Order: sequence, then C-alpha cells, then structure tokens
Amino acid sequence: MQDFKQEDVYQQAKAWVKQAGVLIRESINQPREVDTKADENDLVTEMDRKIEKFFTDHIRATYPNDRILSEEGYGDDVRDLKGTVWIIDPIDGTMNFVHQKQMFSISLAVYCAGSGEIGFVYDVMADILYHAKKGQGAFKNEQQLDMLKPEKILTQSLLMVNTIWCTKNSRINDEKIRALVQTVRGVRTYGSAALEFAYLAEGIVDCYISVKLHPWDLAAGCILYNEVGGKTLQMTGDALTMVNQEPIIAAHPSIIKQVIDEYLELKN
Ligand code: IPD
Ligand code: CA
Ligand code: CA
Ligand code: CA
Repeated sequence: MQDFKQEDVYQQAKAWVKQAGVLIRESINQPREVDTKADENDLVTEMDRKIEKFFTDHIRATYPNDRILSEEGYGDDVRDLKGTVWIIDPIDGTMNFVHQKQMFSISLAVYCAGSGEIGFVYDVMADILYHAKKGQGAFKNEQQLDMLKPEKILTQSLLMVNTIWCTKNSRINDEKIRALVQTVRGVRTYGSAALEFAYLAEGIVDCYISVKLHPWDLAAGCILYNEVGGKTLQMTGDALTMVNQEPIIAAHPSIIKQVIDEYLELKN
C-alpha cells in the first residue's frame, strides 16, 4: 500500500467531522434554502452544499493528491478507487434534516488502494460519532462496539428497508419483500442510510436492504459494519464496487445468504 498514515488521517478527518457538526448544529433553526434534484421529494439545501465544500476545501488544501467522491458536485469524477479516495455525504438524510431537524448524519470514509481504511458516521444532533479504523474495531463515541453474536435467525431479526419497495417505481419484486416483511420480527425505516449502517454495527438491527444507494451513503457505514463481523454485498451476492449506485444488502452473516436467495429479486 502507498504511504498512507491511517492514524494521522483519522485524527484529521475526525476533527473536520466534528467541526462540520458544529456548523450544522449552530444553524439548525435558521431558515433553509430547499431545492429539489431528481424529483420533488429529492431535497437539497444550502447546508448540504456548504458542508460538502467545507470538506473538499480542507481535503484539497491538506491532501492535494487525494481524490474526493461526494454527492453535491464539489468532488472529483471518481470511477475507480486507485490511490486515496475520500467518500463523503455531507448530510445523509436531508429529508430528516429539513423536516425533523434530527436523525441525519455526516458520512465520511477514506479508502486507500480500494481498501476501506477509515469510516465516520456522525449523528450530528445527538452528538454521537460512530467511527472505525480498519482492523481496530468500531466505536460509538468512546465505547467499543461488540462483535456481532455468532448466530441470528431471520424470524427473530429486525429489518430496515426504505419504503420505495412498495411504490410503483420499485425495481424489486415486491411480493418477495412482502414475504420478507412477514417473516422477520419487525421493520424499521430511519431515513439515513449511514445511520442505518451504524445501527447494524451496534447490533440493534440485523438486516438492511436498499435498491438505490450511492457510494457516499454506505462507504463509511460498511467499514463500521465490517469491523464487528457484518457483511455488505450487492443484492446479487456480488461484492460492492463502491463507485456505482447499486442495490445492496447488509446483514448478519447468518442470514444474508437466506435473504438474498429467498427474498431478493430485481426487476429490469
Ligand atoms: C438518502 C438517505 C435515505 C436513503 C436514500 C438516500 P440523502 O440520502 O440515505 O435514507 O433511503 O436512498 O439517497 O439524499 O438524504 O443524502
Ligand atoms: Ca441527496
Ligand atoms: Ca445519502
Ligand atoms: Ca446527502
């Protein structure tokens, strides 16, 4: 691996994530400029852009050789994970940010030569920072998260799924998802994919499926989840590319194959 100083980059990135959190909290009650993107429910605010620019300016000034893959257009055109790539969602859960002023996160990951080295998911309003360095465990603030329990059975599992599965534009076989919903113990939808990964890593939910995730939604979260023994794959069972938008499943290793084989079928 190239000259990548994991601890130094981790400390620097952590400081930026915390500073960005302060900027958001300080202005949480200010009037928002809310625009839409792909459709009228796909929201973006001046704060999404401001926070992304905060990160890209700092990263470019400090690590000029690194590349940035991010949501709001201040990053680079990244199509592979060569070198060091920062993968950033400045506000994950913009709808929660706008409507609820809580339950959104900053997601920041650093990949080096394709390997997820550092991940942060920051629940800004609760001031809870989930963080991980590859090979060194995952943490919730100062507390190390336990490894997942060795066994989990599907009928006793909690599932997280975005409600897009039951809309007319769904790319997934909705009969099968209905059967999955009826099989698991319960279903939750929190509205921030990155936080949903953090909850998987915490072991308080067991499976997450989404037909439509970009790398910046999951790059940090799946590093956290790996560290406690969780698995994240494309819905086909293939490895993630981490540069494309793709349907994904993240789950406890005891149930992931059963869910893919019996309940997930993509439509074209
Ligand atoms: C969205 C959130 C949401 C997920 C969507 C994402 P954004 O990210 O993570 O939970 O269901 O697929 O696009 O746009 O709020 O950063
Ligand atoms: Ca968005
Ligand atoms: Ca997102
Ligand atoms: Ca976002």
